[in-house]
Amino acid sequence: MVKRSLVKLSNNKKERLEKILSISEYVKRQDYSDKKLEGKNIALLFEKPSTRTRSAFEIAVKDLGGNTVFLDKEEIHLGYRESLEDTAKVLESYFDGVGFRGMRHEKVERLDQHTSIPVWNLLTDKFHPTQVLSDFFTIEEVFEKDLSDIKLAYIGNGINNVLNSLIVGAAKTGMNMRIVTPEELRPDRKLMVKSRNIARKQNSTLKCFSNVEKGLEEVDVVYTDVWVSMNDPKSEWDEMIDKLSPYSVDNEKMDLTSENSVFMHCLPALHDKETILADKICERHGIECLEVSDNVFRSDSSIVFQQSENKLHTLKSLLIDSFD
Ligand code: CP
Ligand code: NVA
Repeated sequence: MVKRSLVKLSNNKKERLEKILSISEYVKRQDYSDKKLEGKNIALLFEKPSTRTRSAFEIAVKDLGGNTVFLDKEEIHLGYRESLEDTAKVLESYFDGVGFRGMRHEKVERLDQHTSIPVWNLLTDKFHPTQVLSDFFTIEEVFEKDLSDIKLAYIGNGINNVLNSLIVGAAKTGMNMRIVTPEELRPDRKLMVKSRNIARKQNSTLKCFSNVEKGLEEVDVVYTDVWVSMNDPKSEWDEMIDKLSPYSVDNEKMDLTSENSVFMHCLPALHDKETILADKICERHGIECLEVSDNVFRSDSSIVFQQSENKLHTLKSLLIDSFD
């Protein structure tokens, strides 16, 4: 059987992404009843916390007849007493696949190189491909249009794992995408050059804007993520928050977009002061929210919980495709 990992979207043909999105539809409608993972054991190796991805992945495997073992970095030898390569060899002797959430992207690449079983990237510092599968499926569901007919603006920190995967995904599917971020926080240049070349072949564009009004004008989707990610050093947070305050998504910004536009966020979001983290940051900076205001987050245009539900269906679909 051909090994079908998902380490980053750029390794995958557009056809595979489209296939996963279309299987998700059957899965969500409950038209798929095959126990595709019967007798299969899947490891979930996590170096960072997760609510959605872990839950959705574990349920997806179980619904497909398989079994999961959760391996928390703190409870195994990886990195301290045992190398990644040796761990990879051990895992392949017990498991049929590994879902990995890690600090450095290089690790998931190495894990994939050192095992014969598929490896799925469930978030690293550089990419979050399975998030984008869920996001794209959600956009198709909401707009009932081809992704190439959608204009999406990502607003916020341009140095971001979810954004990187959105860029690659948009380029492959022909979605028109704008990145609205301060000049000094623009995404990795190499990634932009490569992605723009791919986008050009699809007749679509990937543009960066530091001007919010221009960037959000008439877009169908406004997407944001946290300004400080799980990896980001605390010493840089204050500066980042000050730089990004003008990019917080509020009603005025949503008014710049097209009539039926939606708001998206991969979650978790800092939209009010109900979390320890947001409360501390808001207090220190004298602000009410971070990347999105509470009223936009809770508005009818917000489809954030549809995105998180769809993680279950798209992860299931990814597993079905990986063992096809
Ligand atoms: N969006 C996302 O990956 O959420 P978790 O960190 O909860 O898995
Ligand atoms: N950029 C965020 C995404 C969380 C799902 C992080 O890496 O923390």
